[in-house]
This record gives sequence, structure tokens and C-alpha cells, in this order.
Amino acid sequence: MRLEAGSSSDSREDPPGLSRGPRLVHPSVAVGKVILFGEHAVVYGQPALAVPVAAVTARAEVRAARGEWIDARTFGRHYRLAQATERDPLALAFRLAVEHCGQPLRNLELVVESTIPVAAGLGSGAAVATATVRAVAEHFGVHLAPEVVAALTFESEKLLHGKPSGIDNTVVAHERPIVFVKGQPSEPLHVARPFTIVIADSGLASPTRITVGDVAAGHAQDPERYQALFASIGALVARARAIIEGADPALLGPVMDENQRLLEALGVSAEINERLCAAARAVGALGAKLSGGGRGGNVIALVAPDSADAVAAALEAAGARRTITTQVGS
Ligand code: PMV
Repeated sequence: MRLEAGSSSDSREDPPGLSRGPRLVHPSVAVGKVILFGEHAVVYGQPALAVPVAAVTARAEVRAARGEWIDARTFGRHYRLAQATERDPLALAFRLAVEHCGQPLRNLELVVESTIPVAAGLGSGAAVATATVRAVAEHFGVHLAPEVVAALTFESEKLLHGKPSGIDNTVVAHERPIVFVKGQPSEPLHVARPFTIVIADSGLASPTRITVGDVAAGHAQDPERYQALFASIGALVARARAIIEGADPALLGPVMDENQRLLEALGVSAEINERLCAAARAVGALGAKLSGGGRGGNVIALVAPDSADAVAAALEAAGARRTITTQVGS
């Protein structure tokens, strides 16, 4: 089941003795993200480009409580920290951040809310962990550099995704367009001329761990074919970067289409992704591709600003659950 903001199904009562003021009085916020080019190949050392998406956010706050609690009702969960499993990414981010601040994790409640669809390629996991780490730092009056936030949240990403490249938590921690290569410090992506994309949520939740695992299995079976696909994607990323940093962004359209074709060849696309890409192109999008893990999740379409509404409407008519129009580099 997909859990959207406000769809909490937690009917349990509040923990006894917990003071319950208004929720999220001074929240720490983290934005969503999309990958413009290079997903999947980035896991194998190729570069990728990602940008923050401020239209969707995760928010968190840490406050004094009786006992230790996590209140994540957006996700339908409200529980004692002691009941969290070892594979709970939220509990891990909470614990690591408190430890990093040199404080005991005692009598604290973490409250988390999010408007970012889960398993949709918009960086929900990274944003929730980032908001958590920032909320802990805020609570203890500690300043954390984006690199430190990214390093702490990478541990949660590992629990969620198995073998993440680190691109999601890095772009969310830095909140600026980035060029990312696994294992290296990210570089800023300089957007010479702002451009507009429409992000369409396919409504098909698709855990990244599964598509990443399938690509790994394919790579193990036929390393030459997969390495060639990754290298082709890497070359497209270099072309896209050069366009974004200096040329007419409309030229990105064909690069997007080509990246989509290579993602299809990798086996991470799905009928809904291709239907949405085709619908966007049919009404004037300059290019379109899936973004993130694929097999559902979201699709991005490059548009001239005056065709954004028509493309968004066409995407919704073709089955997108919702769309977000955003300017990159504004
Ligand atoms: O599905 P998302 O938005 O979390 O993106 C995952 C991007 C991948 O390249 C598929 C995996 C990764 O860790 O980089």
C-alpha cells in the first residue's frame, strides 16, 4: 500500500505521560529530489545529475518526552525506540545523530511528517533521515555541515536500499543541483539557464532495492552488456552536464529520451513509465524519462514553460497520480 501524507492508520493511543503539544512547532525540513540523468549506472561508478525538489518535504522535530519514542504517523507508525528493529532506517538516523552530538538518547521523542510519496523516486527515505538528523542537531544546538548530514543519513540509505550509490542523501543534504560520482565528494551542477520539468508520480510504488538488485543480477550474468550500457549512460550524463552548464537546455530533450531507452535496455522501465513518457512527448514535452529506481516511481518530462500545464494534464490523463512542475536552477 502506498502511504501518502496524512494517510496515517495508527489508531493506538498516545504513550502514557507524553506531553502532547501542537505537532511540529519548529520543524527541521528536508526537501525531496529527482535524478535528472544517470540512475542505476551511478551504482557502478558512472556520474549522475540530481536536483532538489522543494515542492515536497519531510519535516522532523525532537523534543523532551517520558521515554524514547518515534512518532511517524505519516507512515502509520508510532512506537517506542526500544521496539524498533535493527533494520529501521528512521531509528538508525535518530540514534546516529544523537550519538554524533555526543548526547545520551534518553527521554526524547522524534516526530516525523512527510509529503513525499514513498518508493516513488522522490527521495522520501533520504529526506526523512535528513530531517531527523537536522532535528536532532537543532535540539542539541549543534551545527552539522551538509557532508556530515550526508554521511549520517547514508547509513539509513544502506538499510533501505541495500547498495545505494549515496546520490539521494547527498543531494538532499546539500539542497542544490549536484554532479555525483559514488565515493567522491559531490560537485555543484551549475545551471546556466533555468529549465522546467514536470515530475509525474506513476502511483506505482517501486522499492529501489528491487530494481537495483535486478540490475546487479543482470550485471553478474552478462557483465559486458551491462558495463556497455552503464558506459553509454555515463556518456549521456557528460553530454547533459555540458548542456546544463552552457548550452540551450532544450537540447536536453533528446538526451533524456536516449537515457530512457538505455534504462529500458537495463530492464528497469515499466509500461506505466513508457506510457507516461509517450503522453508527455505527444503534447510537446521536449524529452522524457523515468527517474530513480524505475518500474513505476516517477517520470520526468522536460518542457517549455508555456507547455507545462498541457504536459501535466496529459500525464494525469495517462494515469499519473499527481504531477509537480518545477524549475531547475531558479
Ligand atoms: O529510486 P530513487 O530515487 O531512490 O533512486 C535510486 C537511484 C539508483 O541509481 C537506482 C540507486 C542508487 O543508489 O543510486
